[in-house]
Amino acid sequence: MSPRDHIEIDGVRLYLAKPLGDSPPWVGREEVLAQLIAAWSRIDDDDVPLHPRLLGRPGVGKTTLATAAAARLGLPVYALQATMDTRPEDLLVSPVLAPDGGVRYMASPLVTAMIRGGAAVLDEGNRMSEKSWASLAPLLDHRRYVESTVAGIRIDASPEFRFVTTMNEDASTYEVPEYVHSRLMPQIHLDFPEEDEERAILQAQVPFADGEVLAYVLTFLRRAHEADLHYTVRDGLNVLRYAMKVLDRGEAGSAEEAVVAALALAVPAEELEALELL
Ligand SMILES: Nc1ncnc2c1ncn2[C@@H]1O[C@H](COP(=O)(O)OP(=O)(O)O)[C@@H](O)[C@H]1O
Ligand SMILES: [Mg+2]
Repeated sequence: MSPRDHIEIDGVRLYLAKPLGDSPPWVGREEVLAQLIAAWSRIDDDDVPLHPRLLGRPGVGKTTLATAAAARLGLPVYALQATMDTRPEDLLVSPVLAPDGGVRYMASPLVTAMIRGGAAVLDEGNRMSEKSWASLAPLLDHRRYVESTVAGIRIDASPEFRFVTTMNEDASTYEVPEYVHSRLMPQIHLDFPEEDEERAILQAQVPFADGEVLAYVLTFLRRAHEADLHYTVRDGLNVLRYAMKVLDRGEAGSAEEAVVAALALAVPAEELEALELL
């Protein structure tokens, strides 16, 4: 393992996290990208970026939008997945055993973004408990700092630090308390992409896809949306990738056969029948 970068704050050595690598470019829906970038802009030295939340059903592109906006602003991206078990130290600084038997303080991706001046993407923030959100309260107002009780230090955010959280509207574990809600503004809603946007997304991410296979997958997605089934462009990407593998290995005689083979492993038979895809 290569040694991690570290810095010292008040005599405490903090080991920093690594940013994400390249993420997929944002396709279509320029207006939500513009909303996020506006929320993150600083129009004056005294101005501070806002901390928006991205709302929408799973697979609509919330995480992709967050990383794409950061990339547009030239910011390194630090991502964290929130769960119902996320503790304040997971968000801030956690202690681990050092090789010499002492304690090493590891900055979370969020704290690393604060120090480095990057964008922190807290995914699925609606799953996280009030106790964890409370540890971010001073960060998300004019104070812009966090206090790590584990390391016994206060950490200030760089002026370039940006924060966004994504929330799945249908999967909350806890009610996010009002004083936190009011810090997570504005709210940006994402809807499912239109069919031509879905095509562009699939083409951008699976550029080697066969045109006929792509057309079948788009038909599947369109019928699934019309029937109000939960399938999204993410499922479309997986079906498309698998169908292309089957085709490439010579295990299907045609594009249609390859897609049917892929759908059989992704969608229950009765749904395929209802969508008239069998
Ligand atoms: N507008 C878009 N541009 C590029 N890729 C997209 C777009 N919308 C969705 N995707 C793709 O769909 C998949 C699901 O998107 P994701 O951001 O993970 O959704 P969410 O976070 O809302 O669950 C990803 O592979 C993502 O790259
Ligand atoms: Mg996501």
